[in-house]
Amino acid sequence: MNYPKINSLKTLDAFQSRLDELEIQIPLDSAIQSGDAAPLAQSCDWNGGTIGNRFAILPMEGWDGTTDGRPTDLTRRRWKHFGLSGAKLIWGGEAVAVRHDGRANPNQLVINSDNLAEIEALRTLLVDTHREHFGTVDDLLVGLQLTHSGRFARPNDKKQLEPRVAYRHSVLDAKFGVDSDAAILGDDDLDRLVDDFVAASKLAQQAGYAFVDVKHCHGYLGHELLSGYDRPGKYGGSFENRTRFLRSIVDGIRSEAAGLQIGTRISIFDFIPFEPGPEGLGRPSRTGEYRSAFGGDGTGVGYDLTEPSRLMQLLEELGIQLVCSTVGSPYYCPHIQRPAIFPPSDGYAPPEDPLVGVARQINATAMLKRAHPNLLFVGSGYTYLQDWLPNVGQAVVQQGLADFIGLGRMVLSYPELPADVIAGRTMPRKKICRTFSECTTGPRNGMISGCFPLDPFYKAMPERQQIMALKQQTKA
Ligand SMILES: Cc1cc2nc3c(=O)[nH]c(=O)nc-3n(C[C@H](O)[C@H](O)[C@H](O)COP(=O)(O)O)c2cc1C
Ligand code: SF4
Repeated sequence: MNYPKINSLKTLDAFQSRLDELEIQIPLDSAIQSGDAAPLAQSCDWNGGTIGNRFAILPMEGWDGTTDGRPTDLTRRRWKHFGLSGAKLIWGGEAVAVRHDGRANPNQLVINSDNLAEIEALRTLLVDTHREHFGTVDDLLVGLQLTHSGRFARPNDKKQLEPRVAYRHSVLDAKFGVDSDAAILGDDDLDRLVDDFVAASKLAQQAGYAFVDVKHCHGYLGHELLSGYDRPGKYGGSFENRTRFLRSIVDGIRSEAAGLQIGTRISIFDFIPFEPGPEGLGRPSRTGEYRSAFGGDGTGVGYDLTEPSRLMQLLEELGIQLVCSTVGSPYYCPHIQRPAIFPPSDGYAPPEDPLVGVARQINATAMLKRAHPNLLFVGSGYTYLQDWLPNVGQAVVQQGLADFIGLGRMVLSYPELPADVIAGRTMPRKKICRTFSECTTGPRNGMISGCFPLDPFYKAMPERQQIMALKQQTKA
């Protein structure tokens, strides 16, 4: 399927016509404002202070820590870039495991007392870099994302899945190596894991992070528990039970790390796992009723925000104000999670124009924002907009459809985008992420992540050649 590339839609009218052709709505401003009065430059008050502008950096890991969970120079380079981006909200930095068995790969960061000084130094580096470039850090908010990778854990060997799951899954078990109930985390295991999240949060507070993101997205454990409709026991079944993990962690943080703020990144809806069909085009792995999607409408390919909205209500009751919305999972429905024109090597050709995926995320987030105006929403999935990202971001913020524009892949190729947009500088075309997906293909094949096609630093690495060779093989 050939969809028009964004860089071929050279004028605002051409871009708008494509949206009309697709019959989708994405808010779009014709002129980007710059300077202090610009909508994207406005500060935002929250219950912990002020956040200086409307750009957020989404968490982005690099599969580049040491095997004992410490950052390397590559990790530090990425965090430095987050600091010099100019964005005033750093949503979590990257996924950091609360314990060894929860690592998504043997190079994922781990927070523990041995590693704490280095986890703290990442924050300091980011903050110092930001201060150097922008003068003040009083309005900079930096959090740390805490995770257990659950079904996608590979703590010891890049090639060896060691899944710990919330429940047996009709499609994912076969795909991710679950063949017995031994992979299921029992209620006692989850009780202990709650304690590990709380202990990790205390450490994050000691390391100076203003908030922790209790991660509930992308098919990892917290997210999977939200769809444990058929799981027996106190962590499954009813809404109350499926949110017990989150609630218990929040209770623990409140009593053990008073003053630490809490946010959560949530997949606000989910789809059935997709697979490559004829000619590699993505298609649902089966048809019929699908029950395992939190925020799904039962078809596997649609959403219903009734439960996610109930979850937002719960967050308000828990005194959580910061929410980062994302959708689905990069492992089983990447086209909705990170819309891209080129699939990663373990993916499939996009079954829809990626703009449809962008619109879906923007509109679902807007619906939740409308229903819960007191929550502060960071939206995700904007990178595919490429040259039009600032026009859409500004319109989204102006219209109150989200409070912050979250940037993922775009920051890997073009870290300075927020500062450039706010200063009214032209975006250099050669830095704009064109969604080649090499930053995902690398780690899917045991390599580090980085923007291999556009960042000269990664372009010069031998991994770039390996990725090119992989692409050739796929084509052949
Ligand atoms: C290389 C890479 C690493 C990522 N690491 C994380 C992560 O550690 N935690 C997380 O919640 N999301 C992670 N994501 C997802 C992004 O935060 C974001 O949701 C996604 O890329 C879509 O936003 P975008 O369109 O701006 O790229 C990662 C994405 C990529 C491409
Ligand atoms: S490798 Fe670079 S251009 Fe490709 S999706 Fe990742 S950030 Fe974008």
